[in-house]
Amino acid sequence: MADNKNKPNQVTDTGHSWDGIKELNNPPPRWWLNSLWLSGLLVIVYFILYPSLPLVNDSTKGLLGWTQIKEFKEDLAKVEAKRAPFEDKLAAMSVEAILADPEMLNYAIGSSKVLYGDNCAACHGTGGAPAAGAGYPNLTDDDWLYGGTVREIEMSIANGRAGMMMAHEKSLNTEEVNQLVSFVVNSANGTATEAGKALFTAKGCFACHGADAKGIKAMGSANLTDKVWRFSGDEEAIRQIILHGVNDASDAETRVAQMPQWSEKLAIMMQVRADAIADGEDPNAIDWTEELDGDEAERLTETDIKKLAVYVHQFGGGQ
Ligand code: HEC
Ligand code: HEC
Repeated sequence: MADNKNKPNQVTDTGHSWDGIKELNNPPPRWWLNSLWLSGLLVIVYFILYPSLPLVNDSTKGLLGWTQIKEFKEDLAKVEAKRAPFEDKLAAMSVEAILADPEMLNYAIGSSKVLYGDNCAACHGTGGAPAAGAGYPNLTDDDWLYGGTVREIEMSIANGRAGMMMAHEKSLNTEEVNQLVSFVVNSANGTATEAGKALFTAKGCFACHGADAKGIKAMGSANLTDKVWRFSGDEEAIRQIILHGVNDASDAETRVAQMPQWSEKLAIMMQVRADAIADGEDPNAIDWTEELDGDEAERLTETDIKKLAVYVHQFGGGQ
């Protein structure tokens, strides 16, 4: 082409001519042709080395045997090999021991983010603060229904939770309901009256909420004397709870509040261990084949629940 640059008339033309302008028949430049051949060659090399031709159920395999899945699995295996020593160590540690070991704590927190996002955030919100009014407990404050030690949190996750308050619609008249609503509102403000307190006691509320109305951990009954509301401090909402209760299956309007069980197996194991320790027995001597029948449901592994327990504990509200 370089030769022809300034002498276009010496090149044969294609015979096409528009208004006296002829279409010349220049050969394509050499560099261009070379690139064309080279790319053709690359296609053939790629074709031989890598999977390329789609067939009915599969594709041609290629000499290298490369697949995306294989590459993914190799990468995954590398990550797992790095994690394995930590996972093994975690499996043998108690939640308290994890809290006391900065390196393991760091690992547990790091690997809990996805676990928490996948399993817990839908109800408890990212970072443990649920949407206002959603009816899920906030995990970042100091107000715990079932206790805020890392072990109590582990048990909450393993066993699931569903506090029960029966409906009182049939056992209270309107005046009594009004007085109890006032008592609850006033308790939160520190202005509860003796009369209100007497009714609270007479109607049996104290049996679950405690004589001081501060709640009882074993029942998950809310503390009625602080400004942290389990559900809402709104008078109508309080009336609703008193009339229809929480998780009272016999009342169609009851407030449902259920934390799913994540490992029946771990919940039983924690209970059996705690009982053995309380009885002065050696928890390492427990015969698990006797205590467990192997059918216990496990939606999360014991190690994952430990990680989540320390993760939730460090949200800021742990005790
Ligand atoms: C379907 C909604 C839901 C999901 C999912 C859920 N929770 Fe809960 N969680 C609840 C409810 C409701 C309660 C309160 C139960 C009650 O009121 O008795 C609760 C209670 C708790 C408590 C006890 C709080 C306290 O104050 O004592 C902890 C800890 C907790 N959840 C952690 C978790 C973790 C960790 C996960 C993920 C593995 C999770 N939850 C998944 C609904 C949920
Ligand atoms: C059988 C035990 C039980 C009895 C009896 C009981 N409660 Fe409750 N109450 C609970 C539990 C458990 C909760 C928390 C439920 C949850 O978080 O899932 C609760 C929650 C509440 C709440 C919601 C508090 C908040 O922060 O949103 C109010 C208000 C309340 N109770 C008032 C009363 C009053 C008034 C009485 C007496 C008429 C009473 N309760 C009797 C167990 C009981």
